[in-house]
Amino acid sequence: MKTKILGILKENRNEYVSGQDIGERLGVTRNAIWKAVSSLKEMGYSIESVTNKGYRLTYCPDILCSEEISGELKTRWWGNEILYFDSIDSTNNEIKRQAEKGAREGLLAIAEQQTAGRGRRGKEWSSPSGSGIWMSFLLRPDITPYRASQITIVTALAAANAIRNVTGLNTLIKWPNDIVIDGKKVTGILTEMSAEIDSVSYVVVGIGINVNTESFPPEIGHIATSLVNHLPENTRVQRSGLVAAFGSEFERLYDKFLACDDLAPLKAEYEARLINIGREIIIMPGEQRAKALGINNDGELLVEDEQGIKAIRSGEVSVRGVYGYV
Ligand code: BTN
Repeated sequence: MKTKILGILKENRNEYVSGQDIGERLGVTRNAIWKAVSSLKEMGYSIESVTNKGYRLTYCPDILCSEEISGELKTRWWGNEILYFDSIDSTNNEIKRQAEKGAREGLLAIAEQQTAGRGRRGKEWSSPSGSGIWMSFLLRPDITPYRASQITIVTALAAANAIRNVTGLNTLIKWPNDIVIDGKKVTGILTEMSAEIDSVSYVVVGIGINVNTESFPPEIGHIATSLVNHLPENTRVQRSGLVAAFGSEFERLYDKFLACDDLAPLKAEYEARLINIGREIIIMPGEQRAKALGINNDGELLVEDEQGIKAIRSGEVSVRGVYGYV
């Protein structure tokens, strides 16, 4: 109900909507509307109420609660249910717990803070309160386990597109799935799966976007950045809008991915954002040098060295630039 009222006020942002109009649209009493508006005000929304005119929304706080996100979402199934936490161990852990209990595809978990945020390769993911988007969602794709790793490519492209659409920043992708702005990492993706030999039970996709973070732990300060660091001073990013933009992009790209046997329909769009293309890279472990050429239809990175061209898989190796992170 709060979500629906917020939706109507947002549709008419800065204009008055009468209590009668809202009541007729939602089939609720004026008293119920008044209660919902009071609760929205307590959450930080500025809503003016004037006798004979109605309610007018003048300010939305940068919060990530389910009411705020649902009000922005234009997706068919992504985020069909939203779990919001002030603090949680890890949103990936939460989605796994829910998946084991039979949750539906599309379930989204989002937290202001993670106390045990996890990155790839067993690393910790710093997730302080209010500074980013820490979210995970559930997929139940009818694909082979081999293809599941390609979801990470789809997610990276969706995140890069969404950030660019919302902020105008030039986002690039460091293969396979780090989002980079001005050579530093702004977003990481952790895809985890539960599968049998030949079928996937579920996939958990976790995304961490550094939005308002001003300082990072010393060990990552030289490679990590956040969106606000690249935006004009005093610019704020409405995180719920960015979550919604990601959801729309993800659905668009994921539909294409499922309609095909491989990543062919997304390859050109992904490569257009791939920062590694044409660069000398170091493949780890092993410290072997090669030139990155692009990806193949399976999402593997094509690299060339003196022995010729070969494809490398993201689960097995990682890459870095010759002089640093990219
Ligand atoms: C990486 O190492 O680049 C991946 C980082 C993924 C972080 C996100 S934040 C939301 C979700 N929950 C986690 O514990 N990790 C992912």
